[in-house]
Amino acid sequence: MDIYEIVTEVLTSRKYKDICRDTILEIAKREQTKYRSKKLLIKAIKNKLHQVYGAFLSKKDHARLYEYLDRIKEEEDLREICSQILSLHISTKERISFYQELYDEIFSTIGVPESIIDIACGFNPFSIPWINKLINYLAYDIDSVIIDAINRFFQIIKYPGLAINQDVIYNSVKDNTDVAFAFKFLPIIEQIKRGHTQEFLKNLNVKFIVVSFPLRSISGRKKGMFYHYQEMFKPILVEHFIFVKEIVMGNEMFYILRRGN
Ligand SMILES: C[S@@+](CC[C@H](N)C(=O)[O-])C[C@H]1O[C@@H](n2cnc3c(N)ncnc32)[C@H](O)[C@@H]1O
Repeated sequence: MDIYEIVTEVLTSRKYKDICRDTILEIAKREQTKYRSKKLLIKAIKNKLHQVYGAFLSKKDHARLYEYLDRIKEEEDLREICSQILSLHISTKERISFYQELYDEIFSTIGVPESIIDIACGFNPFSIPWINKLINYLAYDIDSVIIDAINRFFQIIKYPGLAINQDVIYNSVKDNTDVAFAFKFLPIIEQIKRGHTQEFLKNLNVKFIVVSFPLRSISGRKKGMFYHYQEMFKPILVEHFIFVKEIVMGNEMFYILRRGN
């Protein structure tokens, strides 16, 4: 089976056409060892992409995102329009009611940083109106439509930010920043490349990292999931970082950590 042909076929699907080619290629290489049939391999790749990307967002939401962005120029209340954008993504929708409290907690704990890197950002940069400070903001994601929209957003609101369309598992981020946000991302690293979280954390050039985990699954059914994540990730986190604070808000547990030795 030609792996590049497989990748191209996945990239022609409506649901996954905006995803980084690198991500699909690497998932394809890993899944290829398990399947002999092309049809089953493509199905397995799409299943994996659904777990790490598709489950959170629909293509209709991409179109709505641009409609909302166009309205920002006229809209008086930036928070109002950003709330509508944030509600398009499952992860950010849940945070709308507590973003202010969350950022107040984070910045009163670590101080106001000069730079932030938002790793696998999804729609999170649209919560910048609740940060309410000018901070150099770098955002990474594999979805090119979201990345283009975030860059347009930075331009419209004249914010010192840059969004980059990059797979951060196979191409590590090298930026030197004060703080990294890695919200709901460590479990995704393990889904894409098992055992890689260790190296991912080690390579980050940051003074602080704020990571988060869902307390329940999207369906709300798997309540034991968080304990599984805690058991799995806490030992890896303490190897590289020192725990500063735990924050529970909504359906999410946030850990603020400082770079250790
Ligand atoms: C659960 S969502 C979390 C989004 C955001 N961090 C938040 O909590 O609001 C996972 C995000 O990870 C992105 N993603 C998945 N794999 C990635 C990779 N290898 N590199 C960069 N981003 C990735 C997806 O596109 C999606 O936006």
